[in-house]
Amino acid sequence: MSEALRTPRLAWALTGSGHYFTECLALMGGIPDLDLFVTKAAAEVVRMYKQDLAALLEGARIFRDTTASAGPVGHCYHGVYHTLVLAPATSNTVAKCVAGISDSLATNVYAQAGKCRVPSIVFACDTAPEMETEAPHGTVKVFPRRIDLENVERLKAFEATEVVETLPDLERALQARLAALPAPEAESPARRRGGARG
Ligand SMILES: Cc1cc2nc3c(=O)[nH]c(=O)nc-3n(C[C@H](O)[C@H](O)[C@H](O)COP(=O)(O)O)c2cc1C
Repeated sequence: MSEALRTPRLAWALTGSGHYFTECLALMGGIPDLDLFVTKAAAEVVRMYKQDLAALLEGARIFRDTTASAGPVGHCYHGVYHTLVLAPATSNTVAKCVAGISDSLATNVYAQAGKCRVPSIVFACDTAPEMETEAPHGTVKVFPRRIDLENVERLKAFEATEVVETLPDLERALQARLAALPAPEAESPARRRGGARG
């Protein structure tokens, strides 16, 4: 980690969901001091929706899912993050989180945030038995299964986890977390001169 990196930061895990994918990217755009964890499926979906993460999220650190051990989640151990946002969360990622499985960047950062008592906000994709969702070529109807809906309910009982089911609720939960943070310390003259940023 660079010495000049501003902490604590917001960790955001992006999964391979088309549902509310562009809205989540727009929300991330306004957040300073952001680390983004991108699953392999999310990286593919980003390409399908013809988005460019680096261009959209200038200044954010972007970690891609290229290692088995999910090395970047080690930042959780050093107090780098005040909050994890997992959004949008696919039914796959929610199911793994509920089962305690950590085998992707998103499931690993959720597990390690929990073990380090970093609060998580999870925006689950599957929230109703019948939903409209944005596919790359237009709106489609999907019917989340009982198991998908049950897993979302189970996740609500997890420690240090707030599950939200709508975009406005995600925005409210995120703003509440950011507002609860202590005010950042005044910038030192050295940092101002160097213009350091992660
Ligand atoms: C264009 C596209 C959109 C998708 N949207 C969703 C979605 O809204 N919800 C969902 O649960 N899975 C969705 N999927 C399937 C997931 O990407 C797939 O289950 C993947 O294995 C999830 O991996 P991850 O949870 O590690 O990101 C979508 C796949 C594609 C190709």
